[in-house]
Amino acid sequence: MTSSANKPSRRDLLSTSGRLAAASALAGVALPAVHAGEDDTVRIALVGCGGRGTGAAGDAMASKNGPAKLVAMADVFQERLDHSYDALHQEFNDHVAVPTGNKFIGFDGYQKAMDCLRKGDVVILTTPPAFRWVHFTYAISKGLNVFMEKPVTVDGPSTRKLLKLGEESVQKNLKVGVGLMCRHCVVRKELFDRIKNGELGDLTLLRAYRVAGKTAMEASPPKPEGITELLYQVKRFHSFLWASGGCYSDYLIHNIDECCWMKDAWPVKAVGLGGRQYRGSNIDQNFDHYTVEYSFADGTKLLLEGRTIDNCWQKFASYAHGTKGSAWISIAGHTPAHCRIFKGQDVDNEKDIVWKYPKNHEPNPYRVEWDDLFDAIKNDKPYNEVKRGAEASLVTAMGRMAAHTGREITFDQMLNCEHEFAPEVEKLTMDSPAPLLADSSGKYPQPEPGRKTNREF
Ligand SMILES: NC(=O)c1ccc[n+]([C@@H]2O[C@H](COP(=O)([O-])OP(=O)(O)OC[C@H]3O[C@@H](n4cnc5c(N)ncnc54)[C@H](O)[C@@H]3O)[C@@H](O)[C@H]2O)c1
Repeated sequence: MTSSANKPSRRDLLSTSGRLAAASALAGVALPAVHAGEDDTVRIALVGCGGRGTGAAGDAMASKNGPAKLVAMADVFQERLDHSYDALHQEFNDHVAVPTGNKFIGFDGYQKAMDCLRKGDVVILTTPPAFRWVHFTYAISKGLNVFMEKPVTVDGPSTRKLLKLGEESVQKNLKVGVGLMCRHCVVRKELFDRIKNGELGDLTLLRAYRVAGKTAMEASPPKPEGITELLYQVKRFHSFLWASGGCYSDYLIHNIDECCWMKDAWPVKAVGLGGRQYRGSNIDQNFDHYTVEYSFADGTKLLLEGRTIDNCWQKFASYAHGTKGSAWISIAGHTPAHCRIFKGQDVDNEKDIVWKYPKNHEPNPYRVEWDDLFDAIKNDKPYNEVKRGAEASLVTAMGRMAAHTGREITFDQMLNCEHEFAPEVEKLTMDSPAPLLADSSGKYPQPEPGRKTNREF
């Protein structure tokens, strides 16, 4: 550690301000002032330099509650790291100060990148979700604040691990944001308050749709020459359940989560259908259509549709229905939400709109989640989204497992499910075999509802 690393930063001082305030009140003396000229910059390490990681680092540096500076990066592909660095450096200039010695390639790069930070700095975890608990474990040991992307878990065992780590991070007063950014949307927050105030009456039904054409890496052809099995699966992580929870978990979690938020509860069980309608020679583990019915404890249903087939009806939206009216929770993707309340059940009838967000511009929740995280760090506010993120990930996995097995799956069954998709993921090196092995024809095990019923593949 350098001497500057040992110097208490403003954040270190502020993180003890609760104690100082109490002591000062007792002693009747003024709080110690934070002296001018201290280093107020939050240093950031980026682990997983792909699309979202680059975006998240940019949102951090653009936050009104910064300043933030990117000082270290880690990835398993050199070209991904280089591309991310170039894009960020071009946009943020001096806020990107990552010398060559702070750029790390390999499955152990996350440790080296976090070693470049001081206690109280922030690490961004934006690899595929399989690595989340591994990287979070190290972040906690280093006393780092964290921003981690959704989903944060893929199966029962990784959820149990993350919930335990979450508790540990709360005890250490670490601030942890989870990239379910819709929870930071001011318009959805107002809708939530209005639902709580009874403007929709009792909620009787929620509906969520992400029915689109082919999306990202949900389908994958057989592995080409020139790349290892492990790196192929990591690169195309939406195609492999161990890496991401599959396209169901990766794509549908936001819509599931925003519906559960409005209901202010998690569902207790799920049943579902799905299948591989048109997969051609693709070898991934996903269904290309899913229909899931979630049940809440009071019997209310959340109906979910997900599809990745071209040339079909499309919708990317969530709705709430109650005894007094209905609402758009979101209508075309994640942001802007364009929330509306209708006096009847017809969510297409503009004449029935009784409330909509009055301003033209909705604050971008991807930016707001960073404003909120930095505000919590700088002012030592309680801030830890791990439990909620792990539960949202588990509820998503519960619906996926219901569709993949053809069985009713309860919240508790999913939480206690023993099928660990990637045992020893923490030990992977560039030369390791992949957690999932193909058969002699190059195909990976896939879900078979009604046949494979205790595990998804
Ligand atoms: N909140 C949102 O709206 C949103 C949007 C997009 C993605 N995401 C989430 O962000 C995460 C990343 O998604 P993406 O779209 O950026 O994918 P991506 O493939 O573009 O980026 C992932 C990066 O992580 C790297 N990586 C993989 N394993 C690694 C490891 N063990 N150590 C270091 N680096 C590793 C990959 O090489 C890649 O560069 C996913 O969890 C995804 O669900 C969230």
